[in-house]
Amino acid sequence: MAQIIDGKAVSAKIKEQVRDEIAHGNIKAGLAVVIVGSDPASRVYVNNKKKACEFCGIKSFEYALPEETTMEQLLELIDTLNNDKNVNGILVQLPLPKQLDEKAVIERISPKKDVDAFHETNVGKIMIGNYSFLPCTPAGCMELIHSTGVDVAGKECVVIGRSNIVGKPMAMLLLHENGTVTVCHSKTKNLAEVCRRADILVAAVGKPNFVTADMVKEGAVVIDVGINRLENGKLCGDVKFDEVSEKASFITPVPGGVGPMTIATLMKNTLTAAKIQNHE
Ligand code: GUN
Repeated sequence: MAQIIDGKAVSAKIKEQVRDEIAHGNIKAGLAVVIVGSDPASRVYVNNKKKACEFCGIKSFEYALPEETTMEQLLELIDTLNNDKNVNGILVQLPLPKQLDEKAVIERISPKKDVDAFHETNVGKIMIGNYSFLPCTPAGCMELIHSTGVDVAGKECVVIGRSNIVGKPMAMLLLHENGTVTVCHSKTKNLAEVCRRADILVAAVGKPNFVTADMVKEGAVVIDVGINRLENGKLCGDVKFDEVSEKASFITPVPGGVGPMTIATLMKNTLTAAKIQNHE
């Protein structure tokens, strides 16, 4: 039976460290969160970010824009926030309504304030291992892996999913720690067989209960990035928790695993951004 990795506890520690550093250093840090439209899941995430900011002593500025917001209006707001000295980090909650060009929006955010690490400049820096910010969800997954005491170096690591937000940067962070990394996706042949090789398996597919016990090696560390809402309203991950937890050595639950870590990394990145900007 696997040990459950407690994302709430690990994230609480990180947020406490951020809070203490801000308090002791008398650091002024501000995060602007922009949400467009009324997607209920995005609303929940944004509220959680606000609460975390309050806990850490980071000033949060929320901009809730209507569904029909135009590119021109959104880019104008980003320009204003880029120039606002009280704003150290800017996060535009994704996904955006269809009329908005996500890529162009991300590229408009100043790389120095891009606390999601989505801007091409920051993605490039991550590729070569010379970064200020790590992308929030993958960095949170790495912290959870570290919390198990398992060393990534030399391990077979399999990431299922190749999104720009999770899969690709996750693979890079595992590679930075000398893992032997395979990235699987919808065109991968013999997916179950590839997954069974993994000492560390990261599921970021977006399909409920996608990873079953037959896809998991005995003793593997299993990190579940999925947050799927079932018809009955319950949250469930990409991993079939009940059966996989019989086989894994460590496993993250949903909720209470990766989710809280994303926000903790965001707090850390906002503090980093503030420290850099306050010294300019
Ligand atoms: N939507 C889902 N995850 C994220 C994230 O990490 N950052 C932003 N900006 N939007 C998201």
